[in-house]
Amino acid sequence: MGPPELSPLFRPLEVRSLTLANRIVMSPMTRSYSTAGVPGLDVADYYRRRAEGGTGLIVTEGVAIDHPSAVDDPNVPLLRGQSALAGWRQVTEAVHDAGGKIIPQLWHVGPLWGAMGKVDPAVKQMRPSGVWGTLGTTSYSDEYVAWAQRATEPMTDQDIADVIAAFARAAANAMEVGFDGVALHGGHGYLLDSFLWAGTNKRDDAWGGDLERRTRFPAEVVKAIRAEVGDEVPIIYRFSQHKQQDYTAQIAKTPEELGFLLGALVDAGVDILDASIRRFDLPAFEGSQLSLAGWAKKVTGAITMAVGSVGIGKSLRDSRIDGMAPPLDNIAALERRMTDGEFDLIAIGRLHLADPGLARTLREGLPLPVFDRARHEGALH
Ligand SMILES: Cc1cc2nc3c(=O)[nH]c(=O)nc-3n(C[C@H](O)[C@H](O)[C@H](O)COP(=O)(O)O)c2cc1C
Repeated sequence: MGPPELSPLFRPLEVRSLTLANRIVMSPMTRSYSTAGVPGLDVADYYRRRAEGGTGLIVTEGVAIDHPSAVDDPNVPLLRGQSALAGWRQVTEAVHDAGGKIIPQLWHVGPLWGAMGKVDPAVKQMRPSGVWGTLGTTSYSDEYVAWAQRATEPMTDQDIADVIAAFARAAANAMEVGFDGVALHGGHGYLLDSFLWAGTNKRDDAWGGDLERRTRFPAEVVKAIRAEVGDEVPIIYRFSQHKQQDYTAQIAKTPEELGFLLGALVDAGVDILDASIRRFDLPAFEGSQLSLAGWAKKVTGAITMAVGSVGIGKSLRDSRIDGMAPPLDNIAALERRMTDGEFDLIAIGRLHLADPGLARTLREGLPLPVFDRARHEGALH
């Protein structure tokens, strides 16, 4: 990479009243190390190390909102209750003391409840239409898929109101414990995404039936959060074409459709669109080399963030199939796209696990770290 002062990775960015020192973002990564949902000092240390390493913004692992079927894994952290909130206060203080910024990723798994842990069958699962989605290319087990494909009760208007309120409460708690903004997991087939995707949203009412009505639930969640957090802090929204039920699924078949749905989210109060994809440089639509983050910026004018396989020659899913993740120096290609203004921020996942000092490594042009799943996904370090 070029000298730090010339690299687009190391330019500051202002969004609302938050100033990021650089464009390097730690991508949200579930760790399941918060026993009974309470993040401990080890979690605070884990994030502090990335802040000390110079990462401009940390987006936390997915954090359960205050709703009975939000997350099925008991070791995923909560954003409610005195103990968990006290734990998060330690995390935000540790990161701020190290000069970093940190935003929690609010999560409701929706149709994918039961994929990570055992669930109580008495608790109602949140699905827009009671369906799990159309099965395509997936890495889920046959056993889980067979269970998940049973029909459940669609969400009622009351369920919808309850979940919106639960997102707003989580956002209020995020502010209370000192986070610098709010991020939403709106991709990968989870609850917010399941309203956008026609494979899971088969409603014909105010919450589904066409793209405009499919967009309404995520937009209402964003509005409720904006009303809670005020005008000072940023809201980040992660979206994706792919679903964990089907990696080839799409919520937008054309740039026009993408512009329509993302535009509604930006109008509702989103500041940063986080385009989740397996490789940051993959063309999003036929006939153009522009990436998904590039299109998101082009069709909305909003700040956008790319992600996927920075410094690694294999996408997350492919590397999970055979355990291999060879390094790949694609940093110059990344910088070119950022210099061209294609997107504004880059989220980096696995290399942040491999190297807590990743931002410093990149700034000093040191050799890229090598990601080893067995070592780096297995423990907090
Ligand atoms: C261990 C692990 C856990 C992840 N958990 C989440 C998550 O909780 N929320 C989310 O939006 N993405 C999650 N992801 C996806 C990452 O945020 C990122 O998009 C993906 O790893 C691609 O970036 P990379 O190639 O730099 O790793 C996870 C990825 C990994 C490796």
